[in-house]
Amino acid sequence: MTRETGNTVLVTGGAGYIGSHTVIVLLEKGYNVVIVDNLCNSRFEAIKRIQKLSGKDLIFYRVDLLNEKDLDEVFSKHPVSSVIHFAGLKAVGESVKIPLTYYKNNITGTVHLLECMKRHNVTDFVFSSSATVYGDPTRPGGTIPIPESCPREAANPYGKTKLFIENLIEDECKASGSLNAALLRYFNPGGAHPTGELGEDPLGVPNNLIPYIAQVAVGRREYLSVFGNDYPTPDGTPIRDYIHVCDLAEAHVASLAYLQRNYVGCRAWNLGSGTGSTVLQIHRAFSKAVGTELPYKIDPRRDGDVVNLTADPKRANEELKWKTNRSIDEICADVWNWQRKHPYGFDFYKANSDANL
Ligand code: NAD
Ligand code: WQD
Repeated sequence: MTRETGNTVLVTGGAGYIGSHTVIVLLEKGYNVVIVDNLCNSRFEAIKRIQKLSGKDLIFYRVDLLNEKDLDEVFSKHPVSSVIHFAGLKAVGESVKIPLTYYKNNITGTVHLLECMKRHNVTDFVFSSSATVYGDPTRPGGTIPIPESCPREAANPYGKTKLFIENLIEDECKASGSLNAALLRYFNPGGAHPTGELGEDPLGVPNNLIPYIAQVAVGRREYLSVFGNDYPTPDGTPIRDYIHVCDLAEAHVASLAYLQRNYVGCRAWNLGSGTGSTVLQIHRAFSKAVGTELPYKIDPRRDGDVVNLTADPKRANEELKWKTNRSIDEICADVWNWQRKHPYGFDFYKANSDANL
């Protein structure tokens, strides 16, 4: 079914890591962008950089999705035609410590957003889901590489919020008959903008492999702890499907265009390359980017880690006409470019510019 829709995309969480890279591609493709972000895990500096890198203007609101009234006002002020929903809390370990905060922020925030969309007759909706909804795909019933049909089972509060939101979107699609939703299940995002002006800026000690190793490379951490080398993989370390954030950004625009052309109800797409890399392969690729062997130590396994999460991306390749174009070498080279230019992320830039150095 061919549909006619407008050109203004509301992006929640657009100041964050994946959102900011996606907004650049949206602006480059000629969309008008309205960002809603409460900056709880991002910096306003990212908004300035998006505008500088794209040479385009955008509209930004510092609004919390938990504040439905303020969110509704944004919909009233702009002719929003579709929504890409990145805003959410995402740290697995933190979600175990403060589950209520995660359930409230991620689930209630999404309910408010869907209610506003309904009131304002906005139907095209792209949601940031995660491969975490597959739990451990090596359990009975699971397969590697993982197709979208793999049974879902989340293992921690963060993952449970993603699974719950997928289900609530599916229910609302069925009930409304008009909500048209893409569930994008990201595998392991990495990389940065090729200019080195935009990238991941984690608060505190990074939980994830790539930002951690980047901080080792820049001298902020002594060595990389490799969490276990006794897994049943070629070098004993777990396998993940790492995907460049710019490939991910392009997938959002491809899925939005797909929704604008087709009514799908609710449909999931895996976003990965289909190729897995071990922790030690990432360590080698990052060392190559830096030009020196980075220090690492083998430590015990991390609780909750699974041996292999590799996507079967066929559905996205065929339907969205999208595939990954960037290798793990490019992921590591771009992260290193960002990290060496900004050893302390956006704060470092701010400290220097404020001091007029
Ligand atoms: P991020 O933290 O950099 O971006 C999320 C943004 O949402 C931040 O700018 C934050 O300030 C904002 N936000 C959070 N709660 C909000 C609220 N209540 N109201 C308004 N703004 C709010 O994270 P990211 O890595 O860019 O991830 C984006 C989305 O993708 C998240 O939903 C995350 O769960 C999902 N995801 C991320 C990964 C990953 O490894 N980065 C993997 C799979 C899925
Ligand atoms: C990758 C591999 C670690 C850090 C997480 C979330 C998932 C999704 C993506 C949001 C694992 C190993 C890591 C370190 C290490 N996020 N590692 N030393 O766990 O696959 O996925 O991010 O949806 O939900 O769970 O990513 O980068 O943390 O770990 O050895 O210091 O690197 O054991 O094998 P993960 P990760």
